[in-house]
Amino acid sequence: MKTTINSQLSTFTSHVAYRTSHAAPCASPAAPRISRPAHRSAEVLPPRVAYELWADTYPAVAHNPLMRVEQEVVEPMLAKLRARRALDVGTGSGRYVPLLQSTGASVVLGLDFSLAMLTRGIGHRRICADACRLPFRRGAFDVINASLMVGDVADLGAFTREMARALAVGGHLVYSDFHPSWAERGWSRTFRDADGTLHEVSYHPHAIDDHLDAIEQAGLHVRAIREPRVTRSFDPGIRAFRRRWNNPQAVVVFHAVKEP
Ligand SMILES: C[S@@+](CC[C@H](N)C(=O)[O-])C[C@H]1O[C@@H](n2cnc3c(N)ncnc32)[C@H](O)[C@@H]1O
Repeated sequence: MKTTINSQLSTFTSHVAYRTSHAAPCASPAAPRISRPAHRSAEVLPPRVAYELWADTYPAVAHNPLMRVEQEVVEPMLAKLRARRALDVGTGSGRYVPLLQSTGASVVLGLDFSLAMLTRGIGHRRICADACRLPFRRGAFDVINASLMVGDVADLGAFTREMARALAVGGHLVYSDFHPSWAERGWSRTFRDADGTLHEVSYHPHAIDDHLDAIEQAGLHVRAIREPRVTRSFDPGIRAFRRRWNNPQAVVVFHAVKEP
């Protein structure tokens, strides 16, 4: 049976979205997708369409337990880094921009293929582009963060190669993905748009080994992998979720370095 994360964590709203007229350079038509309907009533949308619809209701802070647990891991990783030039790929409404600014970076850029998402960000430089075709020269950044966006990307190798190209030697890539157990458990991502209509976002599940292969083949060296679980809470929705799924790993976070 397919289960939506949001129905399990009913106290929280979740998120996602896409635009039909563009063929995403990161996408591969042959790649498998988790896109079976979670509810008869929820339309399954490709990411480009989904994020355009989701943007209006997508906060610029961690707004569900999965994002919170992800940020608890990513934030200290970023805080240890010193960057002059930082890029947030799949920046959405800019959740990680203040954290990247706190690394001391003089340049912090947010990049996303959804114009609607980018218009939610304020006070920093933003650019509309595809993660697998970055409009930057080789070695342009010291730190690249990419939070919870690679599940929207079919071709993991194209993503990691492009991150490695844009990183300077000694630069850091920190990125997170939905944990592969999502696919095993048949979970899906759902969100409500500004009209209250429920949608499901398709995603590409990536196994841990596939991440590791893609990172190494791109010439990056894995420094850390974390697989955090949703933390204990008094919230009845979270307690029920933890009980039902035996306290599962929620996300996976990678820290990789471009070594000389
Ligand atoms: C789940 S949201 C995460 C937003 C933000 N990183 C956060 O964690 O709050 C994923 C974001 O990645 C963007 N995205 C997905 N695939 C992308 C791609 N190939 N190139 C650029 N942006 C992409 C989406 O438009 C969306 O804003």
